[in-house]
Amino acid sequence: MKIAVYPGSFDPVTNGHLNIIERASRLFDQVIVCVMVNCEKKPLFSLEERKNQLRRVTRHLANVTVDAYDGLLAEYARERGCCTIVKGLRAGSDFEKEFQMAMVNRKLNPDLDSLFLTAEHQYMYLSSSAVKEMGYYGADLSDFLPSQIMDEFEERMKKIANMKEAQP
Ligand code: PNS
Repeated sequence: MKIAVYPGSFDPVTNGHLNIIERASRLFDQVIVCVMVNCEKKPLFSLEERKNQLRRVTRHLANVTVDAYDGLLAEYARERGCCTIVKGLRAGSDFEKEFQMAMVNRKLNPDLDSLFLTAEHQYMYLSSSAVKEMGYYGADLSDFLPSQIMDEFEERMKKIANMKEAQP
């Protein structure tokens, strides 16, 4: 059985992530989408919230499961019997960082390969950070965010805006 892990911050999951998950689910027997900690990012949603969001948006995919883990990806893959890491690759900027992570993960777990799926053209410049910035200023996010998480996302944005207003 070929099991792949698709790791990420997913803060929040975007339509670009969902597109990668759907394509990976056609390539592997099982895909584990794993919410992980990126030390360089301060997340808007907790690990548990992101896990629940991913569960809601992947409900239609029978061979996709969702998990969260706050350790090393290479260790997680070993524990779960995954031989492949799936990542999405967007225009230019992703390459250096992804290449480095793939090398590190392979050094830590030589049985592990990284497979990159190129982002669909409409998601080439989409990121969770851009979604958060657009959301903060009230832009229409219907092309970028799965409908199942829209209300939760908008609520959180309102909360943040209110907190900023309340600050002296
Ligand atoms: O969506 P992101 O933020 O680009 O995903 C990055 C992520 C979470 C996959 C990466 O930071 C990660 O693998 N974190 C787990 C810790 C780890 O294994 N770090 C070593 C890889 S260099």
